[in-house]
Amino acid sequence: MADRIGFGMVGCGVIAPFHATGIKETPGAFLAGACDPHEEAAKGFSASHGNIPFYTDIEEMLRRDDVQAVCICTPSGMHSDQAVMAARAKKHVLCEKPLDITLPKIDRMIRVCREEGVKLGGIFQRRTYEATRKAREAVQGGLLGKMVLGDVYQKFYRSPEYYRSGAWRGTWALDGGGALMNQGVHGIDILLWIMGDVNSVIAKADHLVRDIEVEDTAIAIVTFENGAFGVVEGATSCNPGEAARLELHGEKGTIILTDSGIVRWAVAKGDKHLAQDEKMASAEERAHGVSDPKAISAEGHIALIRDFVDAIKNDREPMVTAQSARKPVELILAIYESARTGREVALPLSS
Ligand SMILES: NC(=O)c1ccc[n+]([C@@H]2O[C@H](COP(=O)([O-])OP(=O)(O)OC[C@H]3O[C@@H](n4cnc5c(N)ncnc54)[C@H](O)[C@@H]3O)[C@@H](O)[C@H]2O)c1
Repeated sequence: MADRIGFGMVGCGVIAPFHATGIKETPGAFLAGACDPHEEAAKGFSASHGNIPFYTDIEEMLRRDDVQAVCICTPSGMHSDQAVMAARAKKHVLCEKPLDITLPKIDRMIRVCREEGVKLGGIFQRRTYEATRKAREAVQGGLLGKMVLGDVYQKFYRSPEYYRSGAWRGTWALDGGGALMNQGVHGIDILLWIMGDVNSVIAKADHLVRDIEVEDTAIAIVTFENGAFGVVEGATSCNPGEAARLELHGEKGTIILTDSGIVRWAVAKGDKHLAQDEKMASAEERAHGVSDPKAISAEGHIALIRDFVDAIKNDREPMVTAQSARKPVELILAIYESARTGREVALPLSS
C-alpha cells in the first residue's frame, strides 16, 4: 500500500471543502483529484486546493492509480451508484450522510464494497464530539439507570433561497426527504447511537411553509428496544432556528446536550433518590448550522477522515460503519411511512 492515501473528491459543492480540510489535516493523506459534472465547480475547487487535477466525469478520475479512496459529496440520492462505481474500481469509499435515501440502495453499496474488499465509512461528525461520546458512555454504562425517554429536537430554519440553491434540494428523488432526511439525520443518528434501536414509530410529517415536495416539519413518537419512549422533532420551518437538543432521561438521572455541549448532567448518587446537578464545564461554542448550512465546524470531518485513513492502513472498520449509518435512514423511512399511512410502523423495515 502507498505511504499516503490519495483521495478523489466526488462532488465539489458546499460540503466538499470540509473534506478537503480533513484530508489536509490528516498525516498520510492527500487530495489527488476532484470531479463534478459542472466544470466550473470542479475547476474552482481545484483552484482553491492546489490546482489538483479535475474532471467532469467520475469514471475518468477513478482510472487514476493515485486515487485510492473517494469522498462522496454529491446529492444524497446519487451516493450508492457512485459508491458502487468507486468500489468496482477498487477505491475505498467515505460517504456523506445520509449513505443514500433507500434501504435497497444502501444495502447494495454495502454489499459491493464488501465484495470488492474496500472500506465503506459514513460521515456523522457529531459522533466524534467529546460531549456526545461522554453521554453515550454514561447511558450505555448504566449511569442513568433504566432509560425512560430519549428525545431529539432539531428546529432549524432554511430559507426559500436555500431550497432554490440546488435543483436536488427538497426533492424525493435526490434529497429523499427534507427536515429529517437532510438536516435531522444527524441528531437521529446520535439518538440511536446512544439509546439503541427503535421498535416502532408513529409520526406526522408535511411541508407546512416551504414550497417543496418533502417535509419541512415532522414529529414522531418512538419506542426503543430498551423499553424507553422518545420524541423526534425535525424542522426547517422554524424561524429563527434553535440549537439542536438531545434529552436523555433515566430513572437515576438526566443528560441534556445541545450543539454547544452538555448543558445538564444530573445523576442520583449514593442513597439520594433525587438526581443532583453537577457543575458543567463551560460549554464550548461550536458552529452548528442552525440557520445557515455552511456554519458548521470542520473538526468532526477532520476526525472522521483521520479515522478512515487509519482504518484503511490497519484494515479495520471505520468509526462510522455503514451498518450503523444505515440505521437513521431506516428510522426516517419508517417515520415517512407512518406519516403517509397514519399507522404505527414496526422496525426493522423490510428492505
Ligand atoms: N455532514 C454534514 O454536516 C453535511 C452538510 C451539508 C451537506 N452534507 C451532505 O453532502 C452531500 C452534498 O451536499 P452539498 O450541500 O454539498 O450539495 P451541493 O449541491 O452544494 O453540492 C453537490 C455537488 O455535487 C455535484 N454533482 C452532481 N452530480 C454529480 C456527479 N454525477 N458526479 C460528481 N458530482 C456531482 C453538483 O454539481 C454539486 O457541485 C449531501 O448528501 C448532503 O446531505 C453533509
